[in-house]
Amino acid sequence: MTKSYVTTPIYYVNAAPHLGHAHTTVMCDIMIRNRKANGVETRFSTGCDEHGQKNQESAEKLGLPVDEYLDLRSSEFKKAFDLLNVDYDYFVRTSRPFHKERVAQMEQSMMDAGLIIKKEYSGIYCKGCEQFKTDSDLNDDGQCFDHPNLFVEEITEANYFFPMEPFRQRLLDHIEANPDFVQPQKFLTELKNMLKEPLEDLCISRPKSRVTLGVELPFDKDYVTYVWFDALINYLTNLGWPENDYQEYWAEVEHVIGKDILKTHGVYWPIILMGMGETLPKKLSVHGHWLGAGGVKMSKSLGNVVDPLEVVEKFGADALRYYLARHMRAENDSQISVELIQTAYNGELGNKVGNLLSRAAKFASDRLDGKVPAKGALTVEDEAARATALAAAEKFAEVFTLAEISSRTEALIQAADELNTYFTEQAPWKLLKDPETEARGQTVLYVTLDSLRVLFEAFRQIIPESADKALAILGCPVSDAEAWKPSLDRLAESKEFGEVLPLFPRVV
Ligand code: MSP
Repeated sequence: MTKSYVTTPIYYVNAAPHLGHAHTTVMCDIMIRNRKANGVETRFSTGCDEHGQKNQESAEKLGLPVDEYLDLRSSEFKKAFDLLNVDYDYFVRTSRPFHKERVAQMEQSMMDAGLIIKKEYSGIYCKGCEQFKTDSDLNDDGQCFDHPNLFVEEITEANYFFPMEPFRQRLLDHIEANPDFVQPQKFLTELKNMLKEPLEDLCISRPKSRVTLGVELPFDKDYVTYVWFDALINYLTNLGWPENDYQEYWAEVEHVIGKDILKTHGVYWPIILMGMGETLPKKLSVHGHWLGAGGVKMSKSLGNVVDPLEVVEKFGADALRYYLARHMRAENDSQISVELIQTAYNGELGNKVGNLLSRAAKFASDRLDGKVPAKGALTVEDEAARATALAAAEKFAEVFTLAEISSRTEALIQAADELNTYFTEQAPWKLLKDPETEARGQTVLYVTLDSLRVLFEAFRQIIPESADKALAILGCPVSDAEAWKPSLDRLAESKEFGEVLPLFPRVV
């Protein structure tokens, strides 16, 4: 991989940014940091989906002019992602003229190619999904599985449609020829199941009498574009499509999504791209959902909603980034609560990583005047501790997948855990007291600190702010300008430690 373009979904602005938005965006940021560290040239997009009925209704509820409402909400999303240290290249807003012009251009060319028809349609509509639903999408009460409290509506109206069935076999052939198209496997199987039956025509318009917040259809002023038909195109318009050498990165695009939008990205989007005569995305990387503790859906009424901004305020951005990275399971839903985050922050980051750095660096500061300890001959135990740290870090010197983030992060914590055991067993504080064993004490400190340095270099991909602080304490900052390759014995290059501040102050 030499180039990579990673996208998050663009998020509805009908409410403030929530944990799910933070999750996908942070995971993409981690993937981007990992790719950059491995010399891959990257592009990273995120942003807001500002059209559609529910955004419109939220503006009305607050009594704000729609433009003001959109500015307010999209700035909240931007601020949240900035607070989480998300290093994106493009922040999309679909209400921007450039995006709207390109969407209209795409629609006109599909109309000209005879791919769009008009017909009257009756169907069950879910505002939460902004989608017409079929019987199998509804629960026993006739409500949407994902939004049972919103109440679906039966709607009859004339609309424009894009018939998808003529493309179904081509999509199945593409999936067969590209087994990595959807990862992990569970979601590939789900997608194949969606493609077993003939596909319905995709309704691509909404009458202005019902929805005004959208891109006007270039061939009928009484309609706006269906929110999904407009939103998906952001992935191309970011790159300046159809000009601007967009192919260079388009050929390498990887869409990261939650499982709730597999159908729109796995069925609608590739088929729209086929209609446009464009190349299909290289990969869809899908994750499960966060549930509250006990595996129940988060909801205001249950009081188990985790607000990402509250977590950042209480524990710092890296506590949240770490929890999301380490504790999301690859194929399944996972559990989260403020208590679980607190336990992981204090117990995993604080006790296993931060404390060891403080203790070892403090010994060096107090006993060795802040100088880097001298490394003498190494024992089997020293070599084993170093090898574990290096092996865990080396997994970050490879490009990893979305599903691999958790196990890679866990390996860093395990290596830190083993380093703690090594440190306790070797007891350098005793060795340093006796002139006969002082040199050996220095070696143990050196091995501990140098191994921690290697781990923190890898941790930069997950918890960049804390890892950089740690590397500053160790006097070994890492520059992004140079290619990164983990290696041992770089501690000696620095002469003195920085001030030893607690990295993850305990929160009770
Ligand atoms: N606007 C559409 C996407 C258009 S992309 C061209 C949309 N927006 S959304 O605001 O509803 O965001 C959905 C996304 O938020 C999910 O795909 C997922 O990335 C994230 N999450 C929402 N809830 C989540 C959890 N409970 N857990 C993890 N992520 C989830 O759909």
